Formats: sequence, C-alpha cells, structure tokens
Amino acid sequence: MQTILTGDRPTGQLHIGHLFGSLLNRVKLQNDYDTYVMVADVQALTDNFNHPDKVRDNVYEVVLDNLAAGLNPDQAIIFIQSLVPEIAELTVFFSNLVTLARLERNPTVKTELEQKKDLFKGGVTYGFLGYPISQAADILTFQADLVPVGQDQEPMLEQTREVARKFNHIYGQTFPEPRALLGDFPRLTGLDGNAKMSKSLGNAIYIADEPVIIEKKIKAAKTDPQKIRKNDPGHPQICPVFGYQQIFNAVEAKNIAKECKSGRLGCVDCKRCLAEKMIAYLAPLQERRRAYASDMPKVRDIVRDGTSKANQRARQTMEQVREKMKIDY
Ligand code: TRP
Repeated sequence: MQTILTGDRPTGQLHIGHLFGSLLNRVKLQNDYDTYVMVADVQALTDNFNHPDKVRDNVYEVVLDNLAAGLNPDQAIIFIQSLVPEIAELTVFFSNLVTLARLERNPTVKTELEQKKDLFKGGVTYGFLGYPISQAADILTFQADLVPVGQDQEPMLEQTREVARKFNHIYGQTFPEPRALLGDFPRLTGLDGNAKMSKSLGNAIYIADEPVIIEKKIKAAKTDPQKIRKNDPGHPQICPVFGYQQIFNAVEAKNIAKECKSGRLGCVDCKRCLAEKMIAYLAPLQERRRAYASDMPKVRDIVRDGTSKANQRARQTMEQVREKMKIDY
C-alpha cells in the first residue's frame, strides 16, 4: 500500500479552504493509502515561537476538525509532530542538502515573509527560513508517496522532491519523490477578496462556525465592487461569493451567474441563499465534531495511539537513513 502524509499547523481552527483543498482528499483516500495526518506544532512554532499557548490550545481543535471532516481514526493515523523526534533528526541531516539561496527563493516562504514583516523586523530566523526543510522531513520520515494539500503548498512539495533526489543521489535510493494532490477547489478566495483564505488574514469561514456566524460573515463578504445596486449587472467570475456558490450550490451556480449578470439577482439574495447552502453542508460535519468534542478522553486516546504508530514508522525510516549515511554505529 502507498503512503499519504499531510498536516496542518495548529494556529487556529481549520476553515473551508483547508476542507476543499486537502481534508476531503484525506477522507476520500484513507481506505486506499496508509494515511498519516500530522498536527504540525513544531512548524506552527516557527512563526509563533512567542505564542506557545496559542499553538497548544489549537492542537486538539485541528484534530477535531479532521475528525469532523470524516477522518476515521480506525483507518487514518493522527499524530503530533513534536512527539516524533525522528522528524527533527532528519531535518538536521537534510539541512546539508539545501542552500540558503534555494530557501529564499521558495515562493511560499516569500509570501509568508511579506505577511510577517513585523515578526521578523529584526531579521528572519533560521527556523522560519528553514521550515521547508523541516516539512520535507515531515513527509519523507513516512516515505510518503502522496501529499494532499492546497495550492499554496506546491512549492513545498517541489522542494521536498529536490531533497529526496539529492539524498538518494548521494547516499543511495531511500525516499520516493512525493506528489502533491490538490483538492477540487485547491485555493479559496478570502471573504475580503484576498487571493487566499487564511487563518492569519482573518478572512475565513471555519468548519466549526455556527450558523449565525456564517450568515454574518457572508453578509459582510466582498462582492463585485461594480455591482452597487441590485439591478447593476454583476461579474460573477471576479466575485468571491460566487466562488463559494460554485462549491456549495453547484447545481444552481450557472443560473445564479446568469441572473447576477442580468441584474435580476442582487447580492443580498445571492448571499442569503449561499449562507443557507453552506450551513446545510457543514451541519453533519459540525454534528460529528460536537460528538467527538464531548468525549475528549477518547480523542486524546486516538492521538496517543496514532502517535505511537507514527513513532514506529519513523524509527524504521531512521534505521535506513542511518545505515545509508554511515552513521549506524
Ligand atoms: N505547511 C502546511 C500548511 O501550512 C502544514 C504542513 C506541515 C504540511 N507539514 C506538512 C502539509 C507536511 C503537508 C505535508 O498548511
């Protein structure tokens, strides 16, 4: 059986961008792959080293969101990154294979540095600049073949493949070159019209958002700026709200686009109908989330058990690595 590894940073709850970018693919493939889902607390600390409580508080939120999406703990392995020290060990060995210039060129790192100017105003840390190496280690510790992710993570996979190739070339065949698997909607626009829905930009609808919150957020969402009055002809192709209609209301989307363009459908009605569909779509996920949340001892058991399986798998890989690198004393 081939292996999937993917993960989420515990810096907040997961949102519908995560859901359609990555979570639904994990759920879909969990029976056909050895599936590892990592709560990336070490990675979260690279840009939240000064907020350890925030990371700690969100570890189980992220676990609950994965379970809410339909991950079956009898199939998939859910674990905490920092409890698998082999990942940190492999990161050190991989560090020799990646130049600083290559890290500085990584488009995801570049975009994030732009957003985190304040945090790194005294200079970027070694840990943050190097997190793509750590992410390569996340993936390759499990010798994963497939990595379900959103579009923003593609450069990370590109870099992971480079690391795998270089390691294999120098020390002998050890790692597969993993592929990214993008979701049906690999990038969701933010409620504010930003190209990416993101926890840190505060423009997201969360999987666990209550119906009234969803209504409120959608009401306030950006639409086509040229459609001021109901009868103004709209441009659905540039409207974030229409983007969500295509996901949550696929059947009616074509018609909505037509009615919006012609000026027969206004934003208020369009948004009301979207909120209804989104709330209905998320209801069974939220129900599942509540059920797990009401039994946290069980959720902690799931993670403990998953972490112990991840530990075993990681040790196997490190044995191979140590032998290949001639440090198997
Ligand atoms: N960087 C990913 C994100 O921000 C999270 C992540 C950490 C990840 N390690 C990973 C994703 C390994 C896939 C594989 O969403």
